[in-house]
Amino acid sequence: MKRIPFVDLAAQYESLKPEIHAGIDDVFSAGTYIQGPAVEAFERAFAGKLGAAHAIGCANGTASLSLALEALGIGKGDEVITVAHTFIATAEAICHVGANPVFVDIEPAAYGMDPAVLEAAITPRTRAIIPVHLYGAPCDMDPILTIAHKHELKVIEDAAQAHFATYRGRYVGGLGDCGSFSFYPGKNLGAYGDAGLISTNDEHVASLLRKLRDHGRISKYEHEVIGYNQRMDALQGAILSVKLKHLDAWIGARRKIAAQYDARLRPAGFKTIVPLADSEPVYHLYVVEASNRDAIADALAREEIATGVHYPIPLHKQAALSKNGPHRPLPVTEKAAAKVISLPIYPELTPENVDRICDRFLKCAQP
Ligand SMILES: Cc1ncc(COP(=O)(O)O)c(C=O)c1O
Repeated sequence: MKRIPFVDLAAQYESLKPEIHAGIDDVFSAGTYIQGPAVEAFERAFAGKLGAAHAIGCANGTASLSLALEALGIGKGDEVITVAHTFIATAEAICHVGANPVFVDIEPAAYGMDPAVLEAAITPRTRAIIPVHLYGAPCDMDPILTIAHKHELKVIEDAAQAHFATYRGRYVGGLGDCGSFSFYPGKNLGAYGDAGLISTNDEHVASLLRKLRDHGRISKYEHEVIGYNQRMDALQGAILSVKLKHLDAWIGARRKIAAQYDARLRPAGFKTIVPLADSEPVYHLYVVEASNRDAIADALAREEIATGVHYPIPLHKQAALSKNGPHRPLPVTEKAAAKVISLPIYPELTPENVDRICDRFLKCAQP
């Protein structure tokens, strides 16, 4: 039986080859390899689709978070509230600007930041909140934004996994002060290398972000602030412009696959992502909880079905962040981290293969 990978980027490439090659060829012929017209065209297209005034391309989705924090004035001695049930980049970016990550728990349905516990974590040093739309499932943004407003805190949405997921009819990443996106190859919108982007409606923040990503430049030889080399490659801009046109169709395919998994796994008693009311996830990952996930992973691997765990060790338990503590206990996070297993999901995955994965999963999994 044919192997089912966790993601199949080669299959996607095959379906896009002529368009991708035309985009790459344009960049090679133009001879501008970093930023330039190809990146600007992608920024315009992405901002237009998101409904944001500005989109600033950059090197990756970790840089987009730290650049956004710096542009919003967050730095040494500040506290930034985020979640521990995420990829480490969310907290790394906070540390990179000299601030301290403070972790709050998630809600168990869609695995997003729990607004009910947010206010208790605010101290006089708190300056910002980073909710993470994990797995492509929107967080409950309205109460988070209300609390942020009340305490005059900035909000940066980590939308690395959630391009064009909707919350109450609006795209995530466009709701806070800044939205941060990753185009790591395996993301729903993936480059052929590293790339990221920050969205904002604030002209001043956008202008500072454009300087910070490119050595503080305001012209070729004038540097107004100390910045970084965190620019987006032109090739990635061209590739992302091609892929952006297909993204809605891919999101549709992911939603269908998730619905097929849900229809098989939920009646058997398994907890899967339960989206918030009035929100539409984009299913970057398809996650199900099971009490015997290691045995499941082994059983599926024996039948050449790949799985993943996102994420087995929450950030408040990571050695790299131990000096940022003591961290409060996070019972919902810890339970999720112990039980989640990610099953293959990508637009090219066939319904027959989803059934094959479910058959094998249901044979050995325990809720
Ligand atoms: C939630 C989250 N935040 C941030 C990042 C960092 O993005 P990148 O790998 O592009 O630096 C990722 C992805 O890797 C992510 O999943």
